[in-house]
Parts: sequence; C-alpha cells; structure tokens
Amino acid sequence: MSAVLIDGKRIAEEIRDELVQKVILLKQKGVIPGLAVILVGDNPASISYVTAKEKACAEIGMKSFETRMAENTSEETLLERIAECNRDPNVHGILVQLPLPRHIDEHRVIEAIDPNKDVDGFTPVNLGRMLLEQPCFIPCTPFGIIELLKRSGVPTNGARAVVVGRSNIVGKPLANLFLRKSVNATVTVCHTGTRDLGSHVREADIVVACAGAPGLVSVDMIKPGACIIDVGVNRVPDSTKKKGYRLCGDVDFEGASQIAGWITPVPGGVGPMTITMLLSNTIDAAARISNIAL
Ligand code: GUN
Repeated sequence: MSAVLIDGKRIAEEIRDELVQKVILLKQKGVIPGLAVILVGDNPASISYVTAKEKACAEIGMKSFETRMAENTSEETLLERIAECNRDPNVHGILVQLPLPRHIDEHRVIEAIDPNKDVDGFTPVNLGRMLLEQPCFIPCTPFGIIELLKRSGVPTNGARAVVVGRSNIVGKPLANLFLRKSVNATVTVCHTGTRDLGSHVREADIVVACAGAPGLVSVDMIKPGACIIDVGVNRVPDSTKKKGYRLCGDVDFEGASQIAGWITPVPGGVGPMTITMLLSNTIDAAARISNIAL
C-alpha cells in the first residue's frame, strides 16, 4: 500500500478531546448539552447508528434522550414528539434518524424541527444559510469530510474535486462546501445520469464516493496520488463473518490504496467523523441557545 491511510477514528478522537473541554465549560455555566435521538422502526443499520451516537454523547459528558417508535407510528405522532423536543429546554439538538418508513413524509418531518436545534443541518433554513455562508449547522458527514481533509493536510486550494453521489445528506451539501473560498476546489458532481464516470474521476485530485454502491469507483479510475474519501457503508453478505456480512465502501480499497496518495478505510474513516461533528453541532447549539460564548 502506498497511500497514506487517513485514520478517521484517530482524528475523531482528537476532535472529541477538544469537545470535552467545551462540555466542561458549558457545565460550569449550568448547561449540559442534550441531544434528542428519534428512531422510527427497526432498520438494523439505523439502530446501530443511533446506538453509536448515544454512546458518543455519554463518552464526552453530554446527555441523550432516546425515543424509539414503532414502524407503524403515524406521522402526526412523530410530529408531536418533535414539537415536544422543540419546547424542551434540556434538548439542544434534535436528530430524526433517516430513512423514515414510507408512509411518513420526510420533508414534513424535517421542516418540523426548530432550525436552532437542527444539528443534522437538514432543514431548508440551515441548508439555505449554509449556501449563503451564514451561521448555521452544517450536515455532519460533509462537515466531517472537510475536517478530515484539513487535518490530514490534503491540499484543496485549486484542487479538482469529484463528488460521486447527489444525496441531500452528503453529495449536494458537500459539493457546496468545496466551493467555499476557504476550501476553494473546483467541483464536479457525478450521479446515475453521468456518462462515463471514469472520465470524470480520472481527472480528480480529490474523489468523494458517496453513492452507496459497493466497488463503484474502480482502480482504473484513480489518478496516481489522488485523495480518496469513501463514504459508502455497504453490507455485503460474507459467511465467514459472525454477523453474516461485512462492511465495504464504494471504492475498491485494495486496488485504490496502491496508487492513491491518501485513502480512508471503511469502517474507521468517515463514519467516526460524522458522529463527532454531530456532537460538535449539538455543543454549538447548546451554547447558542444559552447565550454562552465558547
Ligand atoms: N441517515 C444516514 N445518515 C444520517 C445522518 O447523518 N443523520 C440522520 N438523521 N439520518 C441519517
């Protein structure tokens, strides 16, 4: 392997050490940052994400308030729970785990979250503020990716960045962050309608694969020395594993790590950063709501 392995777990721990100090400061002023986590249904991946988020809160001295609702919960019941969290002074951040069951209108649910508690940065208000570079909550995965690049010393100024995937959660907001003068990359967004994906990726100094398709970015697409960020968390069946599956990203890791300059592993790359930025956003929300400067 010639690429530098970007250790998301280590960088996330470094940031969490910084966050602990902020939590201590808030506690001295009588505020314990609190995150409400709402999960509807029993999607196994969602359960494991939610559990990891709650554990991370506890580890740095924050509170989390879990609400688990049955798969057949009505949209109105979910909206009522969000309204309660909006009013609750102990709740500074609200996270509704996605995806939601199909009978629930995701947009209506997201819009019900108070933008000042929207630590996922999914509301139209926060996405609009992000576009305008006003104070806002930035979606955690894109925020974590920018932080990974910065802390790993990957040059972004004038770099060609190719984002493979156009989700509202990752691809779209990330493409926008790459445009900021503080990052200053030239961005291309590829998606299912893109002709000849390889022709775009081959030009990239930075590739972010966030399509949710195992092995989509193959070794022949990678420019020598490029930085490869793999957001994919795909469960592929593997009878040699205790759980019956293994996790793999959207990139051919074995091949890509031979020629890339930097690469993130799956797991242990982007995942821990996403959770860490959620903690960071929640601490910021608690400080803003309580009028405390950190
Ligand atoms: N589902 C997949 N990623 C996320 C995330 O970052 N936040 C929420 N709320 N749901 C998700």
